[in-house]
Amino acid sequence: MRIDILTGFPKIVEGPLNESIIKIGRQKGAVQIVVHNLRDYTDDKHKTIDDYPYGGGPGMVLKVEPIVRALDVLFTEHNADEAQIVLPSPRGTTLTQSLVTRYSLAGHLVIICGHYKGIDERVHDFYKIEEVSIGDYILSSGEIAALVLVDALVRLQPGVIKDIDSAWTDSFSDDLLDAPYYTRPAEFRGVKVPQVLTSGDHKKIEQWRLRQREDLTRKRRPDLYEKYIKINK
Ligand code: ADE
Repeated sequence: MRIDILTGFPKIVEGPLNESIIKIGRQKGAVQIVVHNLRDYTDDKHKTIDDYPYGGGPGMVLKVEPIVRALDVLFTEHNADEAQIVLPSPRGTTLTQSLVTRYSLAGHLVIICGHYKGIDERVHDFYKIEEVSIGDYILSSGEIAALVLVDALVRLQPGVIKDIDSAWTDSFSDDLLDAPYYTRPAEFRGVKVPQVLTSGDHKKIEQWRLRQREDLTRKRRPDLYEKYIKINK
């Protein structure tokens, strides 16, 4: 998979892209991530990427030219029809694991990072772009949301997580939250790990985990639990 990130603030994304699972995914060649600085697509000496909104009001808007120029250049080398272009935005469709799965199957994802009040709406007149929100709250930077999406995508790429079962038992992979996990020591300050987990009885452990997942989901996310019950019971 190839992911291009268009941003006016490359330093926000560079650290996380070079750590942990994302770094491993890049090193293994499971994902190629290229960061483009929108300031490289400006034509004034101050490399201006934002301006005041027409009609007034607080905040700044990312200018149309640097974004469309960056996309034009990118799509001279890559087929625009095969790329999925995403704009992180609080106005977007809420990001879910099933949306992450859909994007993970795209060979090429382009993420445009907005900032301040967002981007000039006319960008949508030139390219088909899906807006995606990572939740009902406002971030000051689309870069943080872009990183959330990239992280969720990279870990699903074949070869990135050693134990692929680990990804498939995660919360949301089948509409249930994940079970609690424990590691050594078996006892800490008098608190013991649930006995079943040290029993070596894999069938019992599996049943215990499923029960934990169902109980947690019912308590914390009745919306998900209802969906699960409809499909599974
Ligand atoms: N940019 C600002 N807030 C955001 C959000 N909640 N999701 C995605 N992008 C954003």
